[in-house]
Amino acid sequence: MNPPDWQLRVALESDIPALSELIPRSARALLAAHYSTAQIEAALGPVFGVDRTLVHDGTTWIAASGSMVVACGSWSRRSSNFGGDAARIEADAMLNPANDPARIRAFFVEPAWVRRGLGQALLQVCEAELQAAGFHRATLVATLAGEPLYASAGYQVVERYSIALDSGLQLPAVRMMKSF
Ligand SMILES: CC(C)(COP(=O)(O)OP(=O)(O)OC[C@H]1O[C@@H](n2cnc3c(N)ncnc32)[C@H](O)[C@@H]1OP(=O)(O)O)[C@@H](O)C(=O)NCCC(=O)NCCS
Repeated sequence: MNPPDWQLRVALESDIPALSELIPRSARALLAAHYSTAQIEAALGPVFGVDRTLVHDGTTWIAASGSMVVACGSWSRRSSNFGGDAARIEADAMLNPANDPARIRAFFVEPAWVRRGLGQALLQVCEAELQAAGFHRATLVATLAGEPLYASAGYQVVERYSIALDSGLQLPAVRMMKSF
């Protein structure tokens, strides 16, 4: 078997411009089967966006192929469930690992790189780190496109609901949870 042509590493501040391009590109291509263009465009930023706090925390991981960022995924010890930091007004409060589930956040794969195990590999490294940080559970809010990845990794559906977007639009989403 050939060695993979990508590697995982922690995202750096210098990766933020590449992440800011990857997320909308991935969302527009891969979510089009599940949501309207209006829903996707309204969600870019408030729901799908770079959270620089997580990059600073060192809990955003990327898959890189050479100098190219081809996928990203984060875990978080903070309470926000989704979204870029640009529209956040208050500080993102720290969770208590003893009682709270860690967050799994912002998994986006370059459209040409899907179904090659990048999402799964990113999820595994995030899960290893959140457990090492003392968390016993992880929760996430999945898009309809993301649900099969998380289901395949053992996450259970807690709730199906819709995220309110600007202009009265709604984004159907799935709250999921996994215990370790
Ligand atoms: C969801 C996403 C991150 C999955 O990334 P990926 O690298 O393609 O996923 P993987 O190759 O690691 O898939 C692992 C397993 O998850 C499941 N899975 C992933 N994508 C799937 C799909 N589109 N349909 C069905 N099952 C899927 C499969 O069980 C797969 O294993 P298999 O390929 O051996 O069958 C990617 O499709 C994406 O970026 N989507 C757009 C953004 C998004 O919705 N992100 C989720 C935010 S919550």
